[in-house]
Amino acid sequence: MSSSESLDRGLNDAARIISFSNYVVALVGAGISVESGIPPFRGPGGIWTKIGEPVANGYQRFMDDPAAWWAERLSDRDELSEFMKALDEAKPNAAHHAMAEMERAGFLQHIITQNIDNLHQEAGSQAITEIHGNRLKLRCIECDARYPLKGFALDEVPPRCPHCTGIVKTDTVMFGEPIPADALQSCRYHTQLCDCMLLVGTSAQVYPAAEFPIIAARAGAALIEVNPMETPLSGFCQAVLRAPAGEALPALVDRLRGTGTAPS
Ligand code: APR
Repeated sequence: MSSSESLDRGLNDAARIISFSNYVVALVGAGISVESGIPPFRGPGGIWTKIGEPVANGYQRFMDDPAAWWAERLSDRDELSEFMKALDEAKPNAAHHAMAEMERAGFLQHIITQNIDNLHQEAGSQAITEIHGNRLKLRCIECDARYPLKGFALDEVPPRCPHCTGIVKTDTVMFGEPIPADALQSCRYHTQLCDCMLLVGTSAQVYPAAEFPIIAARAGAALIEVNPMETPLSGFCQAVLRAPAGEALPALVDRLRGTGTAPS
């Protein structure tokens, strides 16, 4: 079967599964933002492929000396400055817009994203849990209060929480940092509700996010994968769209419009 025939078959399968589902949850990874100019982490062109996986004790190093961490962060010596520049310039692509359209049409109930780039919000999606945080926010390590980075006074280092005076860090979850309890609870809640999980642009290698599709499938949910490459979850999916998300998801929205039957 040619790749276009298998994509066509995948789109028909995915549209049928979603149109008969009641609660569709998407687990999204860095791959969805590749077409917005943000490199992924693994695989061809991945940041970790280039510079190696970061040390797993980033959070510990922050906690050992938050002032020094902030001083480093506020300088421009950050080795990920190329990544940060891509984040600053990125705009939502057709895949982000397609997911916002699916939400508006009732075909998608919640997005769990591993991305910190805010592109789902900018595309108009609203039901979102950011398991790894958001680059445009700060978070208090004591009370989990979150604040917009823009306009937050950073003259005191480390910055302090206006609510409880705890130390404030970037909302982005560091390697070795526990996932914030509220975000993890939301992911688990929507995972146990879903009867279909759409896996978009994730290598499904980082936990706890990679566990959600397994939990969902064990409870009988259908899995649909949108990824140009195979992943450890490909064999467990009832439908596979082996294409870039920017091509596959708008085509899926067209098929879903054809079914016309949003979940009840
Ligand atoms: N459309 C869809 N998928 C794509 C595209 C595309 N245009 N381009 C690449 N991909 C796929 C790759 O094949 C890969 O499977 O996106 C996936 C990206 O995988 P990773 O780079 O590992 O990203 P992700 O799964 O989000 O990583 C999880 O790891 O380092 C941490 O915090 C980081 O949130 C990240 C987490």
